[in-house]
Amino acid sequence: MSKLEQVKTAEARLLLHTYDRNPILFVRGEGVYVIDEQGERYLDLLSGIGVNALGYSHPAIERALINQGRALIHTSNLFYHEGQAELALRLTERASLDGAVLDRAFFANTGTEAIEGALKLARAHAGLLREEGKTIGTKVLALEHSFHGRTFGSVSATHKAKYREPFGPVVPGFEFVRFNDVNDLRAKFSTEVCAILVEAIQGEGGIRPLSPEFFAEARKLTASTGALLIVDEIQAGLGRTGKWFAYQHYNIQPDIATLAKPLAGGIPLGAILCTEEVARALHPGMHGTTFGGGPLACAVAIAVIDAMESEKLLDNATEVGNYFQEQLRALARKHETIVDIRGKGLMIGAELDSADLARLAVAEMLKRRIVINCTSETTLRFLPPYILERAHVDATIAALDEIFTEHAAAFSGAAAHAAAGGNRG
Ligand SMILES: Cc1ncc(COP(=O)(O)O)c(C=O)c1O
Repeated sequence: MSKLEQVKTAEARLLLHTYDRNPILFVRGEGVYVIDEQGERYLDLLSGIGVNALGYSHPAIERALINQGRALIHTSNLFYHEGQAELALRLTERASLDGAVLDRAFFANTGTEAIEGALKLARAHAGLLREEGKTIGTKVLALEHSFHGRTFGSVSATHKAKYREPFGPVVPGFEFVRFNDVNDLRAKFSTEVCAILVEAIQGEGGIRPLSPEFFAEARKLTASTGALLIVDEIQAGLGRTGKWFAYQHYNIQPDIATLAKPLAGGIPLGAILCTEEVARALHPGMHGTTFGGGPLACAVAIAVIDAMESEKLLDNATEVGNYFQEQLRALARKHETIVDIRGKGLMIGAELDSADLARLAVAEMLKRRIVINCTSETTLRFLPPYILERAHVDATIAALDEIFTEHAAAFSGAAAHAAAGGNRG
């Protein structure tokens, strides 16, 4: 039995059945390539779902892991180590916009935990405002198509019913606003609301950017009552869109931002950044974690940010990302099955007119040794490492062209769309 078959059999017997895995066993990685147990190299345009921003085996990450691993891997949050303040400084300096600042940080382990902390912070802040005599409630507005994580608070703010409903009752006090619908936002906003939670560019929801009007209205409404604007930057943040934070494309400063995925280059680490005003709401003992902000994760995150800067990877994300989008647009002119190209930098979605074709395209790309995925049923999603080069884009476009040339006719058009269940996500 092959190694892959052995692992498959063991997992089928031993693990909870939460994942539909592809039949590939990865054992190592180099640059933008991830390599299976047979030595086959795959061009990774998904980077562990937006995590491996520096690609694989980056020397800066290796160095940080070895040095910090030898020195100190863990100490509890009952004591100091050098990493948290050093990392907080790097993040808070980069999160600012025209003098407005997010000047405090809290470190968690994952994206969903960062969101939990942000939601608790928003409720605690509203409580503080009530003590100070303000009228403000506990409701949180989130958006249709949103994805914020799998724990109870985050999943309560996550729109797709299949993630939420089997686990009901979820946390009360969440309401969904129609995506980019300013009137719906105005109608649902009141002094009952303590926070509006958005992704500047929705990730799982299909790489959908917020409209500047909607984002500005969310900022205006929250500022008018003391409610908070929370921007979930877990997928779009930390350089992926060509800026440190995706909200910086809009010139809108939130009260809270959350980070995770690429933050420590593959070592789990999440972060909450907030204003001084919001930070007033937490006192020692109210919130905390055993592992969050440990020395190892912080040392690697510092190395990741420094490498992004010294290697000018945000500029690369912009430059190669723009090229990628141009090439996809050219492909869309050739294949009408591609109905939209969305995104910024190296966070890109190609919307197809058929869910079946989208699924097939992902499988066909994998046969050609290129890793992508499909989100929101019909969106091909590209979240490559920031070290991606134009030649990798060319190889990707050639593969997609071949796949659509061969298969699109069987799927596209209204009939195929209906056959796929009319599911446009
Ligand atoms: C925007 C966004 N928020 C939160 C999360 C949850 O992060 P994690 O899986 O690390 O808990 C994700 C994960 O995909 C995400 O894309």
